[in-house]
Amino acid sequence: MPSDRSSREKFFSSKRDRELLGQLRLDDVPRHVAIIMDGNGRWAAKRGLPRAAGHRAGVKAVRETLSAAIELGIDYLTVYSFSSENWRRPADEVNTLMGLFVEVLARELDSLQRLGIRVRVIGREDDVPSETMNAFRRTEMQTAGNGSLTFVVALNYGGRLEITDAVRGVVGEVMRGTLDPDAIDETTLTEHLYTAGIPDPDLLIRTSGEMRVSNFLLWQIAYSELWVTAILWPDFSRHDLLRAVIDYQRRDRRFGGTR
Ligand code: IPE
Ligand code: IPE
Ligand code: MG
Repeated sequence: MPSDRSSREKFFSSKRDRELLGQLRLDDVPRHVAIIMDGNGRWAAKRGLPRAAGHRAGVKAVRETLSAAIELGIDYLTVYSFSSENWRRPADEVNTLMGLFVEVLARELDSLQRLGIRVRVIGREDDVPSETMNAFRRTEMQTAGNGSLTFVVALNYGGRLEITDAVRGVVGEVMRGTLDPDAIDETTLTEHLYTAGIPDPDLLIRTSGEMRVSNFLLWQIAYSELWVTAILWPDFSRHDLLRAVIDYQRRDRRFGGTR
């Protein structure tokens, strides 16, 4: 459900946002938007700052995007915050990120509650420092009753890893005799993914101009609309989300059929 008109107009108050708002069809807002938040490092490098400064600036963009998503009536916002391949980065960058999650979750709890945001984490728990995992689990519990938007954070997430874990789950059930192999279909797999119960993304946004998926939600994006922008993640604003949604509304989603 989008917020009421006056709240929306107050939030999207600049002239250029108001113009876009006039083009928005409220009955066709994507239910689930997923974002590959890329370009924090380049944002920092452009300013002669350490990569960590780019990640900190990225948090601000997440906050703004969450508020904008609520105003637009988006139900699910999924962000790629750390991939299963990002462990290849220098240890100090990995440690900075793992610490930043803990710090931000503690600092933002009040605001998450005020906005009615429910947090969920997806990814493989193994390898994530326990302090970071505990902070996410705690936030999941504290926000479990919220219903304005589900904020899905992909942490130590890899699409191939997720499908592998799903297969393990399915095979385990077959071995225990609780699942008939002949009954396995696409729904069975879907129900064993980390995203079980979450609808597939309608719109996938990637910032920083890279034209690749980088192992994000491989199964779930089969029919998602893609939107790539050269904007670096820390610079992503409410205006860009609005632009992406309006572009999405101009697409002709066919799902393999005809119109
Ligand atoms: C995205 O920004 C954030 C994470 C992957 C954690 P990057 O850190 O990948 O930034 P670039 O791509 O190096 O600019
Ligand atoms: C994807 O960005 C992962 C996240 C945004 C967390 P990367 O920066 O890791 O992707 P590649 O390496 O450019 O494909
Ligand atoms: Mg990157």
